Amino acid sequence: MKQDLTHILKSYLGAGSAYKGGSTGTGLEGKIHKLSSNENPWGPSPKVKEALPWLLDEVHRYPDAHDGRLRDALSVFYGGKMQAEQFITGNSGSEILEMIMRAFLSEGDECIVCKPGFIPYWEFSAKFGAKIVAVPLIEDTFEVDLDSILSAITDRTRLIILANPNNPTGTIIKREILQQYFAKVPGDIITIIDEVYNHYVDDQDYSHAWEFIDDHHVIGLNSFSKAFGLAGLRVGFAYCGQDLAQYVSSVKRIFVLNKVSLGAAMTALTDPLYLQTIREKTQIEKRWLYNRLDELNVKYWKSEANFVMIKVEDPGSLLDALALEGVLLRPLAGFGAPGHLRVSIGTRESNQAFIDATRKWAKKHPSV
Ligand SMILES: Cc1ncc(COP(=O)(O)O)c(C=O)c1O
Repeated sequence: MKQDLTHILKSYLGAGSAYKGGSTGTGLEGKIHKLSSNENPWGPSPKVKEALPWLLDEVHRYPDAHDGRLRDALSVFYGGKMQAEQFITGNSGSEILEMIMRAFLSEGDECIVCKPGFIPYWEFSAKFGAKIVAVPLIEDTFEVDLDSILSAITDRTRLIILANPNNPTGTIIKREILQQYFAKVPGDIITIIDEVYNHYVDDQDYSHAWEFIDDHHVIGLNSFSKAFGLAGLRVGFAYCGQDLAQYVSSVKRIFVLNKVSLGAAMTALTDPLYLQTIREKTQIEKRWLYNRLDELNVKYWKSEANFVMIKVEDPGSLLDALALEGVLLRPLAGFGAPGHLRVSIGTRESNQAFIDATRKWAKKHPSV
């Protein structure tokens, strides 16, 4: 006979997930311009497309149990700055984020994040009964508020997540600010620098997490979903000091990454020039978009990533009007930026469709 389970359930589980991912346009007719999930609209390197049929031919074999070859390839990709043992690999950046949280967060612990920010930081911390302490970014510039982050630290703080560039604002944390941060943060706190959009950054004062891993407990979180163009294959990685990598990797199952994804990711790493091409195409499209948004008098924030945050008076009506034209954007209330929308940089055709639909909408909403 079944008995009531309430007394053995974990009180912090069971709420489900509010995170839905960017709209895919299910139910809409005609051409869809998916500008809602910050994907690379040009897809992966031609080398990866060439390798995929060969990889499919091998699916009856188990993959590498511990992703050793991918971690070797990552070490080579970073020019030997880090050894293979310093990498953590997994089924996406999101999964590695969750692994880090599983490794460090227990009920009652605290994780500091900036707001607006990437929703899974909240959701994953909650899965382990941890409390999220959200520190607002500085109003309007959306830069990190270093003093507020540091003063939010308590003896229960285990993790601090700094997104660089930040989703959804596209802002970065400059090297000087990171240096000030690391000079002050207590030495037993783990900092995750989420740099999944790092390939798009133009600012010379940008610094990668690897600049800090020798002297601090910092984990650089990366993904193959963005500039590498492999979002659908779900591969991510992180790097840090060797002890930390070994500890976090101990929560990982063996054979977790499948053979096709592993092969595609390793092939993508052999074509760094392709990343440069994607970066340049994105810059061109981003500048084009800024000019069109200026013409339409739409407020936006300059972004170091492959998306742009915009603000209009009635975001719900713009979102609906765009969807009718097959253009999908991301509303940002759930990210902590109500009233704002995020548009991913797409191909020229998609960007044009976004601008055309926005222009049409603006004619009926002259105050924008
Ligand atoms: C800031 C940030 N971090 C991490 C991720 C995770 O990417 P993935 O799980 O696709 O590797 C995303 C995805 O959109 C993101 O925006």
